[in-house]
Amino acid sequence: MIAHHEVLPDPDAVARAAAERLVAVARAKPGRIGICLSGGSTPKLLYRLLAGPEFREALPWERLHWFFGDERVGDGPEAGSNRRLAQDAFGDLVPPGHLHPIPTDGTPQADAEAYAAKLQAWYGADRLDPGRPLFDLVLLGLGEDGHTASLFPGKPEAREDRAWVVAVPEAGLAPFVPRVSLTLPALAATPLILFLVTGAGKRAPLARLAAGEDLPSGHAKAWGETVWLLDEAAAG
Ligand code: 6PG
Repeated sequence: MIAHHEVLPDPDAVARAAAERLVAVARAKPGRIGICLSGGSTPKLLYRLLAGPEFREALPWERLHWFFGDERVGDGPEAGSNRRLAQDAFGDLVPPGHLHPIPTDGTPQADAEAYAAKLQAWYGADRLDPGRPLFDLVLLGLGEDGHTASLFPGKPEAREDRAWVVAVPEAGLAPFVPRVSLTLPALAATPLILFLVTGAGKRAPLARLAAGEDLPSGHAKAWGETVWLLDEAAAG
């Protein structure tokens, strides 16, 4: 079942609600803030809003560090597209060394291992301590098949409960390119997960989740709060 959801009029309202929560997270504590970004197309509005005149000044860019929940890898044109989505929106607002993309220059397994090492270096340990989150905020999307990040229904990576990052040789939905994905334990290690879900195409997976179907997105539950921001088209 969906933990807690808010239905907003349209994709702009969903992006705005997410931006306001992200600003609140950034202001809630001093020091560095780690945000894990989702990919696909839904977050484009949010990223543009954050970099736009209304929110740009509200964000402490010098304290923000941006990570990725998953990435398309391999040697096709899709490789690195989630990184490009953020880079194109944020541009030089992100100080050097504050964007932490998933590498795409090795084999999927090597890229996954490299990113796990990067996350462990950021965290300062290779085991998650329940009293200390890995991220301050995790953004996730919902695929029409019920996947999230690159954890697809029926694929073994969705059941990985030890590694922080896995290679996903076969995506369960287009683009059918190899992926690298954070696992559910790593995505959960945060006080707040925000799912951004918009459009009528997401009505079906939301209905499957509401009916209690066992889907990877339904298992993405933050240590703290998991909030689903839906627009009316998706909520139905
Ligand atoms: C990816 C994403 C993926 C995405 C969903 C929804 O790399 O594709 O991380 O999990 O969030 O597939 O994608 P849309 O936002 O494009 O519908």
